[in-house]
Amino acid sequence: MLAFLGGTGPEGRGLAIRLALAGEEVVIGSRDAARASTAAEELLLLAPGARITGAANADAAAQADTIFLTFPYEGQRPTLETLGEALDGKIVVNVIAPMEFQRGRGAIALPVDAGSAAEESQLLLPGALVAAAFQNASAEELQEPGLIMEGDVVICSDHKAAKDRVMELTPKIPNLRPVDGGALANAKYVEQITPLLVNINRIYKIHAGIKIVGV
Ligand SMILES: NC(=O)c1ccc[n+]([C@@H]2O[C@H](COP(=O)([O-])OP(=O)(O)OC[C@H]3O[C@@H](n4cnc5c(N)ncnc54)[C@H](OP(=O)(O)O)[C@@H]3O)[C@@H](O)[C@H]2O)c1
Repeated sequence: MLAFLGGTGPEGRGLAIRLALAGEEVVIGSRDAARASTAAEELLLLAPGARITGAANADAAAQADTIFLTFPYEGQRPTLETLGEALDGKIVVNVIAPMEFQRGRGAIALPVDAGSAAEESQLLLPGALVAAAFQNASAEELQEPGLIMEGDVVICSDHKAAKDRVMELTPKIPNLRPVDGGALANAKYVEQITPLLVNINRIYKIHAGIKIVGV
């Protein structure tokens, strides 16, 4: 089962519905169990018959073998410190791109002492198998299940089992291609593309993605 912590937001909802439509069983997580249930019911309206439930973040994480982190960067340390050993041995997919908006500059990447949100999450969860992925996938496009997306998902991890799992899940979203991005230390480069894409989106009024050529 796949859990989406902070899955009440657009990115978690989008990934959850796409993967639920592909046959995966998903649980939406939230700091508030009722909010999670409401989000699950709303997604079921778009995907009748899919296996989608809602639960508090800790319960969602306990049910799943693969846990997506789909909340803002500021929530990472408090959330993961609370969950702690509950994630030991599980695959954790970090979707977080730390960024903020500055007046006159647009989106900018936030510095992270560990190098990236993904590396920080591995330090906070030494017993988990962390992979970084989907940081460049547009929530708006993910939330439109009828839309064929275009782009690559760069997957970085120091754990083969985690990388293999995300490489296998990614093409369940039609036309998204997984690209092996090597070690988790490379996640910083992927995370920092996201504010660039956000700024390009504003200029061109689009939902930009990335594509690696030559692979
Ligand atoms: N939006 C995009 O297009 C996009 C694209 C690629 C990557 N991402 C990344 O995906 C993540 C989620 O993006 P989003 O746009 O869905 O974010 P969001 O709407 O700001 O937040 C998602 C959910 O996270 C929970 N949350 C908010 N603040 C929190 C905190 N301090 N601690 C714990 N949980 C908190 C909330 O759920 P509850 O209140 O129900 O707990 C919220 O509904 C972000 O890290 C972002 O960088 C987003």
